[in-house]
Amino acid sequence: MVILRLPEEIEKIRRSNLIVAEILNELKEKVKPGIATIELDVIASELARKKGVSPAFKGYRGYPFSLCTSVNFEVVHGLPSDRVLVEGDIISLDFGVYYKGYYGDAAVTVPVGNVSPEAARLMEVTEEGLYDGIKEARAGNRLGDISAAVQRRVEAAGFSVVRDFVGHGIGKNLHEEPQIPNYGIRGRGVELKAGMVLAIEPMVNEGTHKVRILPDGWTVVTEDVKLSAHFEHSVAITDNGPDILSKIQ
Ligand code: MF3
Ligand code: CO
Repeated sequence: MVILRLPEEIEKIRRSNLIVAEILNELKEKVKPGIATIELDVIASELARKKGVSPAFKGYRGYPFSLCTSVNFEVVHGLPSDRVLVEGDIISLDFGVYYKGYYGDAAVTVPVGNVSPEAARLMEVTEEGLYDGIKEARAGNRLGDISAAVQRRVEAAGFSVVRDFVGHGIGKNLHEEPQIPNYGIRGRGVELKAGMVLAIEPMVNEGTHKVRILPDGWTVVTEDVKLSAHFEHSVAITDNGPDILSKIQ
């Protein structure tokens, strides 16, 4: 069952998501050649502490860090480490918080210095796919309308959508129903209603859609070792259309 949230609950989910957005913005500025991904995790933890929120991922199903840092052919759930970023890398930063009973969750992929045109295009198309999906997040539409819109944008650009991981409802739990695939068929799936809050998160690969998990048990990588990008927003469906909760207006 997909939970419908009251306007006052949506405001609380917005509070959490705006804090996520602020922290992601600060992290983006720190991404430069020479920084280690563990340093980004430390900064994220420190910012969360200062703002009085809990990092949502730490301890979630045993996840050992606050932040997910997925570099180049890493798709999602990359573990922060002493790996140092170099010019030309792309890095996905995925962060969540828990604050006063509600979760926030968002992700961005950013370039490290100058990147190849193909890498830049991959990031651009992934974000466009996210926004195409968000546009379909309106009452009366179906879940498949979001999925199909993302898939269309991504595949039209010659990239592929990861199938083994999906977006999700969000609120009192980090992951709630429904699951939100980034591929699908317009008109299919549950009917979208005002009050639903959805974390839409396309993971887009330069080559094959196929992925595998590294022996660390977390890091998801592309099978062909080509690049991957990830963007995520938490979005409330309102009577006036989609309301992006994880975006500083
Ligand atoms: N944004 C990711 C998700 O919704 C983050 C979860 S990472 C985990 O799945 F480490 F907490 F699992
Ligand atoms: Co998520």
